[in-house]
Amino acid sequence: MTLSDDDDKKWTYHKHTRAKHDVLKYYSDVWTRIVSDDNRNLRLFDCFAGRGDYVRSDGVEPIDLDEIESAAEYPGSPQILLDQATKHSHLFNQLNCYFFEPKQVNREQLRDNIDDLTGVANNVSSHIVGDEFAEGISDVLRRSGGPNGFAFFFLDPFGLKQIPFNKVSEITSISQFDCLINLMTNELVRWQDSDKHNDTIESLYGTSVWRRELQSLTPKDLSTAEAEYYCNRLENHNTDYTLAYMTTEGDNSRLKYHLVFTTNSDKGLTAMRDSMMRCGTNYTLAYAPEDPDFTPQEQATLVGGNMLTEEDRVKSYLLTRFAGQEISFDELVTQCYIDRRYEDSLRQHYRQYLKEMDNGSVVNIPNREAENDPLPEDYLIQFPNVEEEESANSA
Ligand SMILES: C[S@@+](CC[C@H](N)C(=O)[O-])C[C@H]1O[C@@H](n2cnc3c(N)ncnc32)[C@H](O)[C@@H]1O
Repeated sequence: MTLSDDDDKKWTYHKHTRAKHDVLKYYSDVWTRIVSDDNRNLRLFDCFAGRGDYVRSDGVEPIDLDEIESAAEYPGSPQILLDQATKHSHLFNQLNCYFFEPKQVNREQLRDNIDDLTGVANNVSSHIVGDEFAEGISDVLRRSGGPNGFAFFFLDPFGLKQIPFNKVSEITSISQFDCLINLMTNELVRWQDSDKHNDTIESLYGTSVWRRELQSLTPKDLSTAEAEYYCNRLENHNTDYTLAYMTTEGDNSRLKYHLVFTTNSDKGLTAMRDSMMRCGTNYTLAYAPEDPDFTPQEQATLVGGNMLTEEDRVKSYLLTRFAGQEISFDELVTQCYIDRRYEDSLRQHYRQYLKEMDNGSVVNIPNREAENDPLPEDYLIQFPNVEEEESANSA
């Protein structure tokens, strides 16, 4: 029997719920800082806002709020967004949050939970919308300022039906969007062979040929073809970047969902990758604490007959990718995050490897004079021109 969305049985705070909230909190903190400017008006759209509380927990602690106080025992996504917006409220002019919740029972609880909050900044406003996402988003977008300005969208439905591709594409066609989507990949895996679910999946992927394309896809970056196909669909429609974070149930290694992020901004991608990696198990793009196969980053892999560690691969990649170039450390990390999005390394690793390469005179960083000198974001790194050196050596 399918439970209604306002049934208390649906409102347990699971380990994977907390995992999702960790990513949301980390990213909304960074997003608000990155896009803020004294004159700017920002928008947050929590398109499946929920109740702002849960009935019970399966043993996991609620998330901590930094700036505001909530009467809710297990604060939900609305409080997390209002909290992080409040934290940086001195950096922007005005921030409007739109909370979509069509179920009356849930909406009333959400309203009470928002009314009970204390400490929310005066320039952070909440607007509760009673429409379904697909029905109301175009109008709310238009009324809230149209296609311009910075906006973050969180799409967190219970199932697959509520996020038709044409509506997600409307979001991704506005100029400065960042969007995090909870994609129930466990249902996609389970339901894709059933005709009963064909229309739902067709609407989610936005194409009638989804089954043929999905079944012929050999995933390149992700272990779940259903998630990679969704990312590919987004990247073929207006969006420059996607990134997927796998979430297991937490008590066991069964797949639950993927958090799929999409943006046109280099900075957005870099910030989300850092957020997901820091929240992930063993600094990976996944919440999978009970997955025995989960490989921590130091493992070596066989490449062209050689056992190479991630460090070996990074150093070799850097020399080829930036051969003959001079580039700041910050710009280099952005490029690495774009090219090597599903590899393990973080900014701190690139920094460490480049310092070692400078100390060994493999690259040149003119501002670093001693081996212990730091490598700040704006320092320029000069890479040797590998091709010239190779042809000189062979001459
Ligand atoms: C997974 S819950 C949201 C949890 C919340 N984002 C959080 O993290 O605390 C999904 C919510 O979406 C609501 N919902 C169901 N259909 C919807 C639709 N078509 N549009 C918007 N919200 C919907 C449900 O009533 C439910 O409250």
